[in-house]
Amino acid sequence: MKRFRRLRQNEIIRDLVRETRLSVKDFIYPIFVVDGENIKVPVTSMPNVYQYSIDRLSEILDEVRDSKISGVMLFGIPKSEDKDEYGTQAYAEDGITQRAVRYIKKNYPEILCITDVCLCEYTSHGHCGVVKEGEILNDETLPLLSKMSVSLAKAGADMVAPSDMMDGRVSAIREALDEAGFKNTPIMAYSAKFASAYYGPFRDAAQSAPCFGDRRSYQMDFTNAKEALREIQSDIEEGADIVMVKPALAYLDILKEACQKFDIPIAVYNVSGEYSMVKAAAMQGWIDEKRIVTENLVAMKRAGANIIITYHALDMAKWLNE
Ligand code: PBG
Ligand code: ZN
Repeated sequence: MKRFRRLRQNEIIRDLVRETRLSVKDFIYPIFVVDGENIKVPVTSMPNVYQYSIDRLSEILDEVRDSKISGVMLFGIPKSEDKDEYGTQAYAEDGITQRAVRYIKKNYPEILCITDVCLCEYTSHGHCGVVKEGEILNDETLPLLSKMSVSLAKAGADMVAPSDMMDGRVSAIREALDEAGFKNTPIMAYSAKFASAYYGPFRDAAQSAPCFGDRRSYQMDFTNAKEALREIQSDIEEGADIVMVKPALAYLDILKEACQKFDIPIAVYNVSGEYSMVKAAAMQGWIDEKRIVTENLVAMKRAGANIIITYHALDMAKWLNE
């Protein structure tokens, strides 16, 4: 008889033969920064997630620093009256994200500062690209994403992460960064980003819901797996340093296949809706939050993820550090 139970008989042995371990270094924590003063506003659909103004960012950055996680993913939110058709504030020298980056790099140099690159938080229509007659234009959007990336790199961003899903953006951004002297700024591409209902709570947090239509003409159809591999391959060819699969849990098949097929670091984004579902059930006392979160995050790592972007990062770090 095969006796599998020999290696399950106590915690020391189980720990010895454990195949997958989480580390605080796996994690990137998303942060929402709003323009204004003395702001710490709870995001209603995301328990324990807040929007912060720069003058109160230290409240969360101290925690990030002490948790020893790798870094943060920044989302800037301009005042609504500053949004326009072209998302000008996305590439303004004194834009909210640029100011937040400068603040973080000055006061928390040890925190890796990755910036999301997309126009939807900055455009009046809430789409990720330039809009003309109801159509989201691809090629016209590329120079704006390039400008945004260069301006964030100038502000001190350690890495840029385009999440817009326009075709050709990775090579456009790479070229612009190189030309501006940022040859060493890596690009983490949201390569296989699916049009997903799991982004719902994020759009409350980032005030970035499109005011007409949806994102299905640029984000991927969630039924497609082979297309995801083509997207990833193409981003690698365009010069992405890290590629991403997003969301996480319903897409672990994509993540695993990508990790087997491509020899490049792969990130996964455990998105807002995935977080909110766990938090909601935990608040009802229906599940054990620590055990569920651990199980979910281990599943992402077991599937092959090198980097996990998650709103659970600080909780998980606390559990790992205790
Ligand atoms: C912006 C962006 C989105 C997310 C990351 N960057 C939202 C979207 O595409 O609508 C989603 C993150 C999350 O749900 O946690 N393009
Ligand atoms: Zn967007």
